[in-house]
Amino acid sequence: MNAKVLAIANQKGGVGKTTTTVTLGAALARRNKKVLVIDLDPHACASVHMRFFPDLVKRSTYDLFTAPKKVWPVLWEQLIVRNEGQEFDTVPASIRLSELEVDLKEKQGKGNLLKSALEEVRDKYDYILLDCPPQLGMLQVNAIVACDLLIIPIQTDFLALHGLKLLFDTLRTLNKVLPKPVTYRALATMYDKRAGACRRVLDLLGRKMGDLMFSSVIGLDTRFKDASALGKSVYEIDASCRGARGYELLAKEVEALW
Ligand SMILES: Nc1ncnc2c1ncn2[C@@H]1O[C@H](COP(=O)(O)OP(=O)(O)OP(=O)(O)O)[C@@H](O)[C@H]1O
Ligand SMILES: [Mg+2]
Repeated sequence: MNAKVLAIANQKGGVGKTTTTVTLGAALARRNKKVLVIDLDPHACASVHMRFFPDLVKRSTYDLFTAPKKVWPVLWEQLIVRNEGQEFDTVPASIRLSELEVDLKEKQGKGNLLKSALEEVRDKYDYILLDCPPQLGMLQVNAIVACDLLIIPIQTDFLALHGLKLLFDTLRTLNKVLPKPVTYRALATMYDKRAGACRRVLDLLGRKMGDLMFSSVIGLDTRFKDASALGKSVYEIDASCRGARGYELLAKEVEALW
């Protein structure tokens, strides 16, 4: 195995990054893939969804960025966790991740830390999913540098399109220094086909992004809120609901990329 690393990022908040990470993770796992989800958000929403509560977590993604390289093999063993009945492995986040920007201020090559650390576990998984925080910064840069594919969830809402320029500016800056340009695909989320505004945004996105958009569209579905409240994947609640089917199609599209 040589895991494909998928970063799920958009500096805009509340667009469906975490939902995409945990549901796509579950969809891939249900297709017999070995999946690891790494929570890079200090707010730890993906971790809490997987029932790893920051107050109780001993080791977190923070340690990965701060521990010396020689302890990485032992550290990974402590970091990777899975609660009973869960479909994939998780590395939980902690609020300390928010201090990383300051803690690593002087560190050389800090944008490459995650990519190097992932080399140690790539052979154990088919897919490694990185849930990013809703800000531009070191964590998002590390995820983009480490990934084979950047998935950009975009809420099908006019306001959601405004923030996108910032992300594409970051991509342009990174592409100047990276050995090869970042491969990305946009994913339309929270699509309500009854709303004219949603339909117009989806149409606009399709025209602007062309092949750089997934054909799968994630519909608006209240089941996602039920799933996160219960700490379950939407598949355990209702595998045939619109949201579950959307991510199943996405999983197939992701698999077909390689
Ligand atoms: N397709 C959907 N249909 C309905 N609700 C959704 C959908 N996707 C996500 N949500 C809900 O919208 C809210 C925000 O989603 P989510 O946490 O995935 O976004 P995020 O981009 O990770 O947010 P943040 O930037 O704060 O990390 C959550 O309450 C989630 O349950
Ligand atoms: Mg999130």
